[in-house]
Amino acid sequence: MTEPRSDAFVFFGATGDLAYKKIFPALQALVRAGELDIPIIGVARAGWTLDKLRERARRSLDDNGGLDADAFARLSAQLKYVDGDYADPATYQRLKQTLGTATRPLHYLAIPPSLFGTVVQGLGNAGCATHARVIVEKPFGRNLASAQALNRTLHEVFAESSVFRIDHYLGKEAVQNLLYFRFANAFLEPVWNRNHVDSVQITMAEDFGVLGRGAFYEEVGTLRDVVQNHMLQVIALLAMDAPTGRDTESVRAEKLRIFRAMRPLDPAQLVRGQYRGYRDEKGVAADSQVETFAALCLYIDTWRWAGVPFNIRAGKCLPITATEVRVNLKCPPLAIFDEISAATSNYFRFRLSPDVTISAGARVKQHGETMSGEPVELIARHEPPGQDLPYERLLRAALRGDPALFTRDDSVEAAWRVIAPALADGGPVQDYAPGSWGPSAAADIFVGDAGWHDPKPEESAPC
Ligand code: BG6
Repeated sequence: MTEPRSDAFVFFGATGDLAYKKIFPALQALVRAGELDIPIIGVARAGWTLDKLRERARRSLDDNGGLDADAFARLSAQLKYVDGDYADPATYQRLKQTLGTATRPLHYLAIPPSLFGTVVQGLGNAGCATHARVIVEKPFGRNLASAQALNRTLHEVFAESSVFRIDHYLGKEAVQNLLYFRFANAFLEPVWNRNHVDSVQITMAEDFGVLGRGAFYEEVGTLRDVVQNHMLQVIALLAMDAPTGRDTESVRAEKLRIFRAMRPLDPAQLVRGQYRGYRDEKGVAADSQVETFAALCLYIDTWRWAGVPFNIRAGKCLPITATEVRVNLKCPPLAIFDEISAATSNYFRFRLSPDVTISAGARVKQHGETMSGEPVELIARHEPPGQDLPYERLLRAALRGDPALFTRDDSVEAAWRVIAPALADGGPVQDYAPGSWGPSAAADIFVGDAGWHDPKPEESAPC
């Protein structure tokens, strides 16, 4: 059944960082594509005027991907602004007036989670939530209890089918392709299990620090910022069984089964790191114990994955910016020619960003008279970077009421359950030099014979 399209887009936090970096570029892209011809209403408590918001939008586009004069002119014309305190009922009355004849608005809460309750109640009381949808950002809560409380707050006003929780990784082409690639190719299935997979590793590396977001980062740290959400979502797509249907709920059901089968993270299998210099960042405590790096190992207790380590490494100020998954296969049972170690045997490598590559690591005979080999990669797919904006895709989906790229209440809670022990007792934070691969203890946390493979700059290959 086709869901009705939203007929107005409202974004709270219109003067904030998220709107600046992600929302305006996505809106311009949708307007340019002719997919957004409805009122676009920014809400903030900044004492601004509409002209000031338009100016902000212009600067946002100049700084984030480029201004398209024609699309920007249309976006500006559609833009409206409501200024007011989120706790003041008059703000929502003004919003209602500004909505005019629109009856199915999509509200985007680009604001701190501590304000969700106030805004959601304000929308409900003013009658702005009827037939409406709401988008909320990650991280969804700080832990299991706060995520449950947030879900209760949202559900007081919005049905679960109207709630769209963003994990922008799900809006990435390469991440969606994991799902497609796995279930559109029969050759993978026979080896995709504990009998053939030695270990899995995911590295999400960034070669920059917190980029002025010190105060935000102090509240989250790497585990909450990218592990509980982006990394666990990637694992769910890698590990889930085939959905029983094409529909969203069938996919979500299989992902939920994986989250529920993940063993709660053992703090002994976690290394938390902090780059030297983090404590000098604006908004960061001089004795901060917040991690800017985490290396950890998870297990999924299903028949398919029992005993297979899923190693995750994520952090700021690492040597490169790249996100890469590597599924290491076991060695051949006998060394007929040369010795093959776990580090040099077959693997599948999925480069998720900044470029998109899928490759299979194989061995071929080295030229010459001896029967010895060398590694090669068979590149299955390669795409130039910068093809799509995840936020554009996510907003497009939410506007038409398609929940496929969003996370459901039960799976968000299950994901918090997985990392709960590490949040309660994550052990000391260890410092590391910017530009290194984290604290030296991270090397020892890897489970499996292959060891960490550090993502390298991708060579460009033919499409
Ligand atoms: C965000 C995190 O969710 O993802 C950031 O808050 C991180 O800290 C970012 O830098 C990475 O996303 P992407 O799409 O640039 O890989």
